[in-house]
Amino acid sequence: MDGPRIAVESLTKRYGAVTAVEDASFVAEPGRVTGFLGPNGAGKTTTLRALLGLVTPTAGAATIGGAAYAALEHPGTVVGAHLEAGFHPGRTAREHLRTVAPLVGADDARCDEALAMVGMDGAAGRRVGGFSMGMRQRLGLATALLGEPAALVLDEPANGLDPAGITWMRAFLRAFAARGGTVLLSSHLLGEVEQTVDDVVIIAGGRVRHTSSLADLHRLARPSATLRSPDAARLALLAADLPGATLADPATLVVPDLDAAALGARAFAAGVEVHGLAGSGETLEQVFLRMTEAAA
Ligand SMILES: Nc1ncnc2c1ncn2[C@@H]1O[C@H](COP(=O)(O)OP(=O)(O)O)[C@@H](O)[C@H]1O
Ligand SMILES: [Mg+2]
Repeated sequence: MDGPRIAVESLTKRYGAVTAVEDASFVAEPGRVTGFLGPNGAGKTTTLRALLGLVTPTAGAATIGGAAYAALEHPGTVVGAHLEAGFHPGRTAREHLRTVAPLVGADDARCDEALAMVGMDGAAGRRVGGFSMGMRQRLGLATALLGEPAALVLDEPANGLDPAGITWMRAFLRAFAARGGTVLLSSHLLGEVEQTVDDVVIIAGGRVRHTSSLADLHRLARPSATLRSPDAARLALLAADLPGATLADPATLVVPDLDAAALGARAFAAGVEVHGLAGSGETLEQVFLRMTEAAA
């Protein structure tokens, strides 16, 4: 599979006085799963809608393989998408797919194939109105797969999935990317997609705050260390010497932006008797929150 590169370039979308997205730029590369992450209202859906030609940008552009969605000759065979679901509750899963199929040039056999790919062959004749969130997400993915696209754009695909569903979705999307496909998915919870994504784009307040590999995001986690000592006097002196350090109690020093080894060395040099030393530091979720809060 030869997935297209997805590029969002200086995209701005205003709705009257509301700026939903402001000057957003990022790419999603083929062969990788890109997580488009940010709190509710950050501008994720608006960006994905612009990418799919469903909203007109106020400024900037979004392209798939170098072309705007509207300029693609057979868009359904290039990119499969599932945005916030609007399924007709009275239709069965198979009927839903057969309604969409003509738009992407898929036949009835492909509809059944797509249902099988998402593990829903057994539910083909059941009405969507009775589906759980997890089944809706699977049906959405089946819809996106209909045209055999090399790119998938999925809005909150992990939303409402149980842990088994998340594991299944992760394996599916990772395998799709491993075959060369491009995957761009949004989520308001980093934890939900942390094990699924290779790259992250963090958006908040309509602005892109960070783009990197997930590995590089891990590296931005700030260390911190805690040291316990019975020598309150020297501990207080040490605290005064370390920027940002605080005493949780007279015997417990907490120091940001320093790991345990570095704090141990400082304590040793200061002649502080050490009874306990532990490194901690930000979790990935805390890094994510820090970046999205900087928006406010
Ligand atoms: N059609 C619209 N008209 C007016 N405001 C909108 C419209 N669509 C989205 N917005 C606003 O744009 C902002 C971003 O929304 P959205 O893109 O849905 O964020 P997300 O998907 O990250 O939750 C929100 O403040 C939302 O209320
Ligand atoms: Mg949204």
